[in-house]
Amino acid sequence: MSRSAPLARPALLARLALLLASGALTACGGGVHGTPGGSGLRDPYFPKAGNGGYDVTHYGLDLAYDPDTSRLSGTATLTARATQDLSAFDLDLEGLDVEKVTVGGDTARWNRTGQELTVRPHDDLDEGRTFRVTVRYSGTPKTITDPDGSEEGWMETEDGAVALGEPTGSMAWFPGNHHPSDKASYDLTITVPEGLQAVSNGELTASRTAGGRTTSHWHTAEPMASYLATVAIGEYDIHRTTTSDGLPVHTAVDPAEADASRKVLAQIPAVMTWAQDTFGPYPFSSTGAIVDRRGDAGYALETQNRPFFPGAPDTGTLVHELAHQWFGDSVTPKTWRDMWLNEGFATYAEWLWAEDHGGDSAQETFDALYDHGEDDYEDLWDFPPGKPSSAAHISDSPVYLRGAMVLHRIRQTVGDAAFFALLRDWPTTHRHGNADTDDFTSYVEQLAPDKDFAPIWDDWLYGEGKPAKPGP
Ligand code: TRP
Ligand code: ZN
Repeated sequence: MSRSAPLARPALLARLALLLASGALTACGGGVHGTPGGSGLRDPYFPKAGNGGYDVTHYGLDLAYDPDTSRLSGTATLTARATQDLSAFDLDLEGLDVEKVTVGGDTARWNRTGQELTVRPHDDLDEGRTFRVTVRYSGTPKTITDPDGSEEGWMETEDGAVALGEPTGSMAWFPGNHHPSDKASYDLTITVPEGLQAVSNGELTASRTAGGRTTSHWHTAEPMASYLATVAIGEYDIHRTTTSDGLPVHTAVDPAEADASRKVLAQIPAVMTWAQDTFGPYPFSSTGAIVDRRGDAGYALETQNRPFFPGAPDTGTLVHELAHQWFGDSVTPKTWRDMWLNEGFATYAEWLWAEDHGGDSAQETFDALYDHGEDDYEDLWDFPPGKPSSAAHISDSPVYLRGAMVLHRIRQTVGDAAFFALLRDWPTTHRHGNADTDDFTSYVEQLAPDKDFAPIWDDWLYGEGKPAKPGP
């Protein structure tokens, strides 16, 4: 029987209308014209972050900074692949003056609106094509105030500056696709006045001093989300060593924090060994820490390879930021809604470290939080970790603590053997990639198909209010 489908026609027409509206069918000179890539990736919390239409594979940042003038200048060279036919594309850049833009070696037109730097290449870019864009820029980089009132971006310190990027601060110091879903490798070359150091992610591959200025080259081979990129400029005591299995450890400590930091930083090799036993092979080619002065920033951050600390950290904070290297840095959230996958795991790592080193068991920590967590964290039950109430709350207690409680509820449900297998397998499965909360819940479900996780997801991960006390 023929099914000449009257119903299909309106659908077809609607599709055609959509195509026409999007400009996709506008023929021109025998070719099909590209369209603009879009000014954001529709992140549920930061809709303007990132851009559509391309994927960055490499950032080459060639920069100079002088703390005396607070002036940053340089050229960013991005290698990217077009994911659609592009007539134009956006980069995120907040502040700074753009002097010249090229695409594929040709000068390109650009204009700026807010954080969007819109680039119009001389010729359209075909889908699938790899292209190179350079942006020459300079100025005094900005400190950005987050929706929660904390400061990020470019921050001047006592003796230099530090760049901290979570969630959107990296657009204050280099143009890019500033969303965690687009990871890339990096080469950063930075020139600072002689006598100062510049410390970044990855490994230091070259350093030379000439004419009163020191230039350092840092190479990050493994994919990195731009919010984890950093550069710290100032006076630092630099120590380089290796762990027992040969992993380079590179620490940079502000001399004012040297005494207070010595003991805790000496624990890095032991924390790394413990973390590898617990979470599986370390995903990066070096580790370490950057310690600036208390007051140089309001929080620590899991900058890739070498977390940043404002003042000497305690052991728990060191464990937290090093655990993020697996959870956040290697397995990166697809959107900012998935923050609890970073903070829940990093917090649970602190609980496990305590459990394994003569402190409270994770069960005791969980029980204490359940019974009277509100006394110390009055917002603990304000919203569920899987759905923060707004961008101003993505780093609040429900994301960290109730996020860790979700993991503990899974441990209670599947038992220790399966749970500790999960702690190793999850970061292995998504190594150097991105994952969201649905990826995680379906992963847990296939791990233990005989268990019912619905109550954990419904009450602990997504439910409003304080969940009922878990049974014995
Ligand atoms: N991720 C950092 C940590 O837990 C904390 C942090 C700093 C943060 N800035 C942020 C969290 C912005 C969310 C958003 O170590
Ligand atoms: Zn954290």
